[in-house]
Amino acid sequence: GLTTSAVLARRPAVTGAELRSAVPLPDPYRTPLPVPPVLRPIDTAGGTDRYQVTQHAARVRILPGVDTPMWTYQGAFPGPTIESRRGRPVTVTYRNELPVPTVVHLHGGRTPAASDGYPTDLVLPRGWREPMDGMRHMPGTGGMDDPRAVVTRLTRTHTFPLDQRPTLLWYHDHRMDFTAPAIWRGLAGMHVVRDDAEEALGLPAGPRELPLMITDRAFAADGSLAYPALDPTLRDRPGVPERYLAGVLGDVILVNGAPWPVHEVDAVRYRLRILNASNARHYELEAVTDDGRRLDLVQVGADQGLLAAPVTQRVLPLAPAERYDVVVDFAAVPVGSRVRLRNRLGTGRTREVLAFRVARRATDRSRVPRVLARDLPAWHRGDAVRVRDFAFRAGRMGGGHGWLIGGRPFDPARSDVTARLGDVEVWRLIADVHHPVHLHLVGFRVLSRGGRAPLPSDAGLKDTIALRPGESAEIITRFDGYRGRYLFHCHNAEHEDMGMMANLDIV
Ligand code: C2O
Ligand code: CU
Repeated sequence: GLTTSAVLARRPAVTGAELRSAVPLPDPYRTPLPVPPVLRPIDTAGGTDRYQVTQHAARVRILPGVDTPMWTYQGAFPGPTIESRRGRPVTVTYRNELPVPTVVHLHGGRTPAASDGYPTDLVLPRGWREPMDGMRHMPGTGGMDDPRAVVTRLTRTHTFPLDQRPTLLWYHDHRMDFTAPAIWRGLAGMHVVRDDAEEALGLPAGPRELPLMITDRAFAADGSLAYPALDPTLRDRPGVPERYLAGVLGDVILVNGAPWPVHEVDAVRYRLRILNASNARHYELEAVTDDGRRLDLVQVGADQGLLAAPVTQRVLPLAPAERYDVVVDFAAVPVGSRVRLRNRLGTGRTREVLAFRVARRATDRSRVPRVLARDLPAWHRGDAVRVRDFAFRAGRMGGGHGWLIGGRPFDPARSDVTARLGDVEVWRLIADVHHPVHLHLVGFRVLSRGGRAPLPSDAGLKDTIALRPGESAEIITRFDGYRGRYLFHCHNAEHEDMGMMANLDIV
């Protein structure tokens, strides 16, 4: 069969406008890898974990010797990690002390629509005069002119039933037209869902399980984040200038908010829970020793939880918002070795991501069972009651360039897809350039890619699929869970802000 690497090799490298940092950058693999702290609930009574998360500006130490002003959840980047049990409900009360409205979405969550973080469900900051202040008026769209379309609150409580397969979710800003600059400024954090069955597998755990949020950023001379159209204009104009139409890339790779960090490991198996939270950068990750040996990346899970069986990968193609759950065995290399997680798509420093120093031998009771999960949905084409086609392409929007789905930019007032609760559907997607396509609420399986069988990296239950230039793919899903208005969109955050989003109404 066709390997993932062979297919990837035939595709052009990712393009996009890369910002250059104007501040001295640290050498790779000097900064220790931070692991974001786990958030403590304020209350656990009645079988529900209640959390409070305040969004506020903070100075965060990312580069040595200089602070970076950021927008944060609880003062940190990434925000604190939330740890949950499957089926145990969680509420989060978001308070907004930022100078702009926000929207919080739990990516990959099976969440009732009222708590999903629809792009106009604003959490307003104190002193924000009226709901429309600073919102875009886009000619030809109706929703934003209607104040009734906007929910106006200073805090907002979301309820997450978390009745879903255990996996790594992440929460991030989702405000209409302003998601990309808000995430870039720091509004992203991780949320892990666990259950007994997964824990019983014996995968590496505790300090041998590492959540890894990968992002790219660029820094101005004073240590602040560089971003086109960042701040003063943010309230007055949407999106980013045209040359950033492809998406904004930074020249510094951060893992859990640290530049090219290094982590000391025992010579045993580790479980790496990798998330690409970058706005637009794609990665092709491989684990290589300094003498050029490549280590197996044993994939055990995808966006929406465990695979049926492990898949051994050499390269992990990672588009924005995708997650991979992989086990790496550092017993395969001598003590003292360095293993780097490198990005084949990068150039110079953006090839470097994260290094592990194998410090010592240790006992390892972890295992990777040959059967991981038996609950993966087995949807067949014949189950589908409908087949829909969606083209993800550049086009005209308002007076300028935008990114369109089926020829139309996002309009919160327009219904684009109406699906019946419980129906299985096949969606055929086609893209002009790279578009990581994400559906809210549901997981899907990849049926085909480019008219052929899916790649090994398409295994499992996904919520984001990376379409490559000119590529088509078929996905299959069942719209179950909740009724209401959800979304599907490109997860290149700049594309999303420039129109590439549509409503998904489940009735
Ligand atoms: Cu990661 Cu619609 O979001
Ligand atoms: Cu896109």
